[in-house]
Amino acid sequence: MKKIALYPGSFDPLTNGHLDIIHRASRLFDEVIVAILINSEKSPLFSADERSTMIRTSLGRDYPNVRVDTFEGLLVDYALQQQARVIVRGIRAVSDYEYELQMALMNRRLEPRIETVFMMPSEAYSYLSSRLVREVCQFGGAISGLVPRNVEDRLLKKIASMGREGQAAAANNPDS
Ligand code: PNS
Repeated sequence: MKKIALYPGSFDPLTNGHLDIIHRASRLFDEVIVAILINSEKSPLFSADERSTMIRTSLGRDYPNVRVDTFEGLLVDYALQQQARVIVRGIRAVSDYEYELQMALMNRRLEPRIETVFMMPSEAYSYLSSRLVREVCQFGGAISGLVPRNVEDRLLKKIASMGREGQAAAANNPDS
């Protein structure tokens, strides 16, 4: 049976740490679905369409077994719908573990047929998060090397197009 893994997240925006995990997962599974959460309660900096486009552009043609999709509602429901039996999550430091453990155990309770697999990105990205990238960019710090080039360009344009209040709200959005 084809081994399909889901790599879910907010990806607001995609970082090189996310890309590193996608690269590693693509070598382990027959198919990897990068699943972007559409959550109307949070106010992401980028729309789901923008986030999908950035991820697709970043992947280019290098990953024929990776596809990008969006989902709403429970992750395990979406996983079953996609016939995925594995959820991949990246763990950077011990501080990620508590939240990730909670989610993994809740997902297991909801759907015992689905396993969560934790993967570590390269240590070069162990401090990297979408929230920090948004914040650094908002205050004019350099983000090259932390996100793919197309993401950097879009971030700079997005931040420039927002007023001061919008910029502060974007930086403070607690999404990872
Ligand atoms: O990148 P993030 O924000 O850490 O990703 C979190 C995500 C999208 C994996 C998580 O919020 C999620 O799976 N949301 C879908 C709703 C759901 O299934 N909740 C119960 C999981 S415990």
